[in-house]
Amino acid sequence: MSAHTRLERRIESPDPAATSALGLALAKAARPGDLICLWGDLGAGKTHLAKSIGAGIGVTDTIASPSFILMAEYVGRLPLFHLDLYRLADAADVLAGGLIDDRQSAGVTLVEWPDRMVGVLPTERLDVFIDGAGDASRTITVRAGTPALQRYLDVIP
Ligand SMILES: Nc1ncnc2c1ncn2[C@@H]1O[C@H](COP(=O)(O)OP(=O)(O)OP(=O)(O)O)[C@@H](O)[C@H]1O
Ligand SMILES: [Mg+2]
Repeated sequence: MSAHTRLERRIESPDPAATSALGLALAKAARPGDLICLWGDLGAGKTHLAKSIGAGIGVTDTIASPSFILMAEYVGRLPLFHLDLYRLADAADVLAGGLIDDRQSAGVTLVEWPDRMVGVLPTERLDVFIDGAGDASRTITVRAGTPALQRYLDVIP
């Protein structure tokens, strides 16, 4: 398959350290305005991956699960915006005006539980699906919504 048509990559992550390594690698491709959706069940490792993407972007503050706030903002080489929509039954109405506002266009936005806003997700996004939970190995699929986002696939070891 040529690089032009490669829009998806799948890796096995046997342990948390392997998921962290993936996050650090993905961060190398991060550019202002990028949207990264983190899909997966409870305890799949979305926040774990978010922390390592943040570390790769140079965030030194602790990235936590923003359970009671919609969005947390961190400072790195780019601003990092971390959303956790778990508590929203349906974020589509709330976010109908758009997920990315002017401030976010300067940084990278990570969204946990994007399932809550499937109706209004822009096509131009990177999807990361984490399959597995508990101590089991994870299968992680990274999918570029547009050819421009293929740069994320190219940095995966
Ligand atoms: N291969 C792996 N990759 C990522 N995390 C793993 C892996 N194996 C075990 N874990 C563990 O799974 C847990 C994942 O927790 P995490 O909070 O990241 O999940 P989450 O998807 O954000 O859940 P929630 O939906 O509740 O926010 C961590 O305790 C982590 O150490
Ligand atoms: Mg989480």
